[in-house]
Amino acid sequence: MKIMIMAGGQGTRFWPRSVKSKPKQFLSLTSEQTMLQQTYRRFLQYVPGTSIYVVTTKQYSGLVHEQLPELKQEHLIMEPEPKDTAPCVALSALHFLQKGEDDVLVTTPSDQYIPEGNSLWEALKQAEIVARSGRSIVTLGIVPTRPETGYGYIVTEEPTAEGQAVAAKAFIEKPPLERAKQLIEQKNVYWNSGIFIWKPSTIAHYMSRSQKDMWTLLEGCGGQWEDVYSRLPKISVDYAILEKASSIYTIPVHFEWDDIGSWTSLERVHQPDDQGNIVMGDAFPLYTSNSIVYTENLKTVVIGVKDLIIVSTPDGLLVCDKAHEQHIRDAQKFMDVKG
Ligand code: GDD
Ligand code: MG
Repeated sequence: MKIMIMAGGQGTRFWPRSVKSKPKQFLSLTSEQTMLQQTYRRFLQYVPGTSIYVVTTKQYSGLVHEQLPELKQEHLIMEPEPKDTAPCVALSALHFLQKGEDDVLVTTPSDQYIPEGNSLWEALKQAEIVARSGRSIVTLGIVPTRPETGYGYIVTEEPTAEGQAVAAKAFIEKPPLERAKQLIEQKNVYWNSGIFIWKPSTIAHYMSRSQKDMWTLLEGCGGQWEDVYSRLPKISVDYAILEKASSIYTIPVHFEWDDIGSWTSLERVHQPDDQGNIVMGDAFPLYTSNSIVYTENLKTVVIGVKDLIIVSTPDGLLVCDKAHEQHIRDAQKFMDVKG
């Protein structure tokens, strides 16, 4: 089994801490280690370094080397520019197929909090067996606990026991809130962990059907990615393949898991104070409740507010009602326009 850590995302919902020059996978958000270091070292407990790869964009290669000095150059796969996860997964598959290798591949995000690695590894071993036979895509399914609109949802044929693969009948990426509320009412619905277990030839199979133009360009460029990358669509693997694929299996897992995707996700991994506030840095909340305050090098006093996210870094100041958290991703776009 080979591991491919995807580490080229922009982490836009974590602005202004996550910025283009250093997105969230390169930040220490849940421990002293960065999210990328935690991900790499979690896998290193179970497989040798020779089986672990990182795929990122050219601009982050320096950060990857800095944070993972043990990663060999030939284990770093570089994309010319960020195009979301579909091109990144296609490139990863081609990396092996062009060498005549078709060992089961785990494509995994680099932004996840999984404190207990053993259960993850047990599930992956189970998934490998399913992925090896035929053209199956296997995902690890998380039992949903809230109507999260930032995740993908998998509807299975029937509810099943932990650790047992079950066929999926639908995959719904990032549904609107009302749909998410309906989905979590059902027993046979799981969150997509974003960890996919599949053979490179399975990726090729679905890419060539669902993303024919993308696949033709990548397959035909003889490894000269620079020549074709700018012509690829920016699309995630969830929309590009999963929502359309026919043979998806899910293995429900029950270990602690979180996508550290946005500011409020920190509430699930940090202990709040008595008023429900998460305070990081030199900040003093007074008569304030249920808020997140993060500050770097700036003494900050917050008085009489509730349900706010207040973040100050050298790159910017954010004041956001928690209910609008998903809109933080627009902040970076706004900065780009303003220059
Ligand atoms: N190399 C590379 N290139 N990596 C990328 C790119 C890219 O262009 N874009 C994103 N990534 C990396 C990110 O750094 C992250 O580690 C991973 O791919 C997933 O991207 P996210 O942007 O974090 O996706 P998401 O969280 O919105 O949604 C995905 O993960 C959820 C669970 O964490 C989906 O798979 C959802 O269905 C899933 O529920
Ligand atoms: Mg994510």
